[in-house]
Amino acid sequence: MSENEFQEYDENLMALLEGVWGEGFMSPGGVDEVDRYLEGIGLDGQTVLDIGCGLGGVDIHLVRQHGAAKVTGIDIEPALIERCRMLADKYGIGERTDFVCVEPGPLPFDDLSFGIVTSKDSIIHIADKHELARDVFRVLEPGGWFVASDWLAGYEGEPSEEMRQYLVAEGLDFGLASAATYVDALQSAGFTDVATVDRNEWYRDQARVERDAMGGALYDGLASQVGREFLEHEIEVWDKMIVALDQGQLRPTHLRGRKPGHRS
Ligand SMILES: C[S@@+](CC[C@H](N)C(=O)[O-])C[C@H]1O[C@@H](n2cnc3c(N)ncnc32)[C@H](O)[C@@H]1O
Repeated sequence: MSENEFQEYDENLMALLEGVWGEGFMSPGGVDEVDRYLEGIGLDGQTVLDIGCGLGGVDIHLVRQHGAAKVTGIDIEPALIERCRMLADKYGIGERTDFVCVEPGPLPFDDLSFGIVTSKDSIIHIADKHELARDVFRVLEPGGWFVASDWLAGYEGEPSEEMRQYLVAEGLDFGLASAATYVDALQSAGFTDVATVDRNEWYRDQARVERDAMGGALYDGLASQVGREFLEHEIEVWDKMIVALDQGQLRPTHLRGRKPGHRS
């Protein structure tokens, strides 16, 4: 287990995100969005690695609804790993999941360990997309898919002033990169069938629904959990995020690529 003491996603933020995005989720769209980025990829009987498993909602879904034989979720925060284990136990799938706290850096797995590598909105925290793509390629079996969603930059170089203000308000350790960077990282690592689906338009609308709920139907419940001050701050973050989405600076995107070859 990591000795990482820094908790970027603290209790309040976890409660807020789960309150807005649903049980086990720290990213938008819930299981519907997971199903969308997995479309056409069979997980039945597969061994899956989930990079940045957060609260475990994705992993539970992959086992329960997609028939994954085994899902290994990794994260850098011990408190989140603990929460994942609790969620897996709640749904009685502890034996088909494994949650591992890792240090940022190379994936601590042997070559060819997984049939599928997935990630939902977590690679944003990993600065070097090329290094990560090479490492994902290494741990995948031939014929295996990398299939993910992430928050991408709609710009090369410097963000707009409004995007910069959003990133400062969010206060998370974002390492945004453009779709061109992700595609280059995947292709350079050896992936074929590399494809991206831009979800900016969807999230532009969805973020407004979330923001309205935070200021309306969800307000009292969230305020009693995380306090009014924190909730008001997060509503401001959402307002700034909506501007960044409208400008096209922030672009949630689905990503995929296949490792050439056939499974033995
Ligand atoms: C926005 S959350 C998404 C969590 C989850 N995938 C979901 O969609 O609910 C990003 C997660 O990535 C994790 N993370 C950050 N850097 C990481 C790294 N180098 N390796 C693995 N996970 C990381 C964070 O701790 C956090 O749980």
